[in-house]
Amino acid sequence: MKKITIAIDGFSSCGKSTMAKDLAKEIGYIYVDTGAMYRSVTLYALRHNLFNADGSIREEELKTQMKNIDISFQLNKTTGRPDTFLNGENVEKDIRSMEVSSHVSPIAALPFVRTALVAQQQRMGAGKGIVMDGRDIGTVVFPDAELKIFVTASAEVRAQRRYDELKAKGMEANFNDILKNVEERDYIDSHRATSPLRKAPDAIELDNSNLTIAQQQQWLYEQYRKVAE
Ligand code: DC
Repeated sequence: MKKITIAIDGFSSCGKSTMAKDLAKEIGYIYVDTGAMYRSVTLYALRHNLFNADGSIREEELKTQMKNIDISFQLNKTTGRPDTFLNGENVEKDIRSMEVSSHVSPIAALPFVRTALVAQQQRMGAGKGIVMDGRDIGTVVFPDAELKIFVTASAEVRAQRRYDELKAKGMEANFNDILKNVEERDYIDSHRATSPLRKAPDAIELDNSNLTIAQQQQWLYEQYRKVAE
């Protein structure tokens, strides 16, 4: 099998991270969740009071502090999946909170944040053998990726998945708040000026609203096999 680059893009909570993680594990590739990187910058901004009371961001301050934000991933031996580290601290749980979810879209819309994170993502994927998921992987980060997948599912299905995920982790969750957050993020992510979420012309679309995880995995592995063989 050839060593390739796999780009998986799609709306929030569409199950793309689960698909990407499981495929990476199965084929021995590096997995990178780029949403976790935007979430980590958001967590940093929240902790350092870089949001004003009206929700706007103190951009100049964040810009000068970008050099102090170190994001890395380390394999968690219990889950078999990578955990996200912000300046050496495991923030895997904190970056999934509703507070981070409701502040992340404006952070991800800032061009200087995107430039810094995209450069780091490109360095991580320089040797191929990587599965990366996000919004702009097939369009901006790796436009030459050999395999590009664009995942969609209805907003209700995605809100239910995020609700189940939070509950399973013992976290607070309200279905209607989550649905509203999913819809708001869809809008901001696909309407922002810098790297809006869109399907790359050569990406294969997968609507997984009615698929089980096992069915998605099988489908994705098949796409990989066709390209890498
Ligand atoms: O996939 P997620 O829900 O964890 O992503 C969190 C936010 O980060 C989401 O609002 C979109 C943004 N994002 C982005 O703009 N570009 C990426 N490559 C990944 C995520």
